[in-house]
Amino acid sequence: MAAKTTHAVGVDIGGTGIKAGIVDLDAGQLASDRVKVATPAGAEPDDVLRAVRQVLDTLGVADDASVALGVAFPAIVKRGRTLSAANVSDKWIGFEAEKFFEDGLGREIHFANDADVAGVAEVRYGAAKGVDGLVILTTLGTGIGSALIYDGVLVPNSELGHVQRAKHGKDAEAYAAYSAFEREGLTWEKWAARLQWYYSHIEFLFSPDLFIVGGGVSKHAQNFLPLLELGTPIVPAVHRNNAGIIGAAALARTGDVA
Ligand code: BGC
Repeated sequence: MAAKTTHAVGVDIGGTGIKAGIVDLDAGQLASDRVKVATPAGAEPDDVLRAVRQVLDTLGVADDASVALGVAFPAIVKRGRTLSAANVSDKWIGFEAEKFFEDGLGREIHFANDADVAGVAEVRYGAAKGVDGLVILTTLGTGIGSALIYDGVLVPNSELGHVQRAKHGKDAEAYAAYSAFEREGLTWEKWAARLQWYYSHIEFLFSPDLFIVGGGVSKHAQNFLPLLELGTPIVPAVHRNNAGIIGAAALARTGDVA
């Protein structure tokens, strides 16, 4: 007899791309192709909603409210409201985003921060599974997102991409995110030197037991992780850049992130 599988849809809204897939929640893997569209310039709410509808259409689930839907967003999310906007329009600040998506999509959703849901995916199905103590997952993308997980439990809405570089008074993410690597045409070595500063600083502040690195660039982890010297083990996310989709879908099933 075939094993019973349960599916949900995950949408991961990022500063650069909006990715989605149907997820097999028993296996913790994509059960469909991954679909992706560019995040509309300026990332205004109406344009983002249209793009989310487009990826759901492509997946063939836009009108199927029987499949749970999780949506991840690159901002602080508290009780359905987005409270920050680092790489999206300022209109999201203090915005009833969950309700906006529910009204616009005509269905219930579960809504949370993008790095937090990637953390959930890695706890349930990946590198943080069964790890005791403090795991810090960081996503290196347009910005730097973070998930703090202690003994398997997520502490939501950490914003470790926004620690300040003392000398420069700028956010860490402006200096060390993958977007800085691309924007400035850095070599892996030059970028790794920035990551060395970043992870040493976070290591000093939190004394974690494990760092996990997610985001699209995690598929090239062999080019930069071996260059880092840290007292804390640092590994790529098992689900690489799909962790956000998988975690958003997993959350839709259990709804347990604030
Ligand atoms: C945002 C975070 C987000 C991260 C990754 C940061 O700029 O403040 O909320 O998790 O980017 O998208």
